[in-house]
Amino acid sequence: MNAQPRPLPLETPPTDDLVGDVQRLEGVIAGWEGSQQSVAIAYRKAIDALHKAALRKIIAAVKATPAALDALRSATEDPIVYTILRHHGLVRPSLQERVEEALAEVRPMLASHGGNVELVAVIPPDAVEVRFLGNCDHCPSSTLTFVAGVRRAIEDHCPEITNIRQVKGTSGSGAAVDFASPFAGTWVHATALPSIPQHGVTALVIEGEPLLLARSGRTVTCFRDACAHLGLAISGGTVTEGRIACPHHGFVYDLSTGECLTVPEVQLSPVPARLVGDRVEIRREA
Ligand code: FES
Repeated sequence: MNAQPRPLPLETPPTDDLVGDVQRLEGVIAGWEGSQQSVAIAYRKAIDALHKAALRKIIAAVKATPAALDALRSATEDPIVYTILRHHGLVRPSLQERVEEALAEVRPMLASHGGNVELVAVIPPDAVEVRFLGNCDHCPSSTLTFVAGVRRAIEDHCPEITNIRQVKGTSGSGAAVDFASPFAGTWVHATALPSIPQHGVTALVIEGEPLLLARSGRTVTCFRDACAHLGLAISGGTVTEGRIACPHHGFVYDLSTGECLTVPEVQLSPVPARLVGDRVEIRREA
């Protein structure tokens, strides 16, 4: 890999740019050979350890001053402060993170039956709403098993949750419209355009969700990395002429639209993607 790190700007850039820089540099390091990677990783760990020790001292000093505790709590509500403290293990995962971890744990079991589950809402202090998708929402007897598995996982990760509600697939108005407002959600950095092979695909995990990015020139499409057949990862499939064949049972999909050419009734689940310069961004729902 020939990509060289570009110098970081001297002024304080927006948070998205900082995170993007870190991810871009991690991508560069991932392309280095083993011994170079080890040095870079050891260097990053040493810097992390230094920062963690300093942050610990700051937190200890603040805790010794009860009047300052509120200021610390409100500082941790800032996403970047929270992310850094979480990175160093200095704050507990949020309730939402723990629920997402629980759902991630049961997703392979659901996927093996062609289904999925999504978190609809966390309602502090003790309730969550989830929605079952795909086959999980269609087969009554299987649903009982799925609900029990999801309940057990959430209770293991979040003992404070005592009320797990299942939301059906339609909106509150009863209209079965799956509408994603272009003004909702946040665009997050996924990768750099050159890291996706021309006329090929790249698999990524963003915020715990496996995704498949496909590129044709400067056009990038993104889908959840889950075959519409049984929900298994499709990213290991063979790509030919803008199509990918699922490595498991051979369903073929058009990478520009996600349409399944084997069984036209189904398709890959699309995720909005855009290019900002050479940055590939995907939209995460709010
Ligand atoms: S999981 Fe069966 S074709 Fe993809």
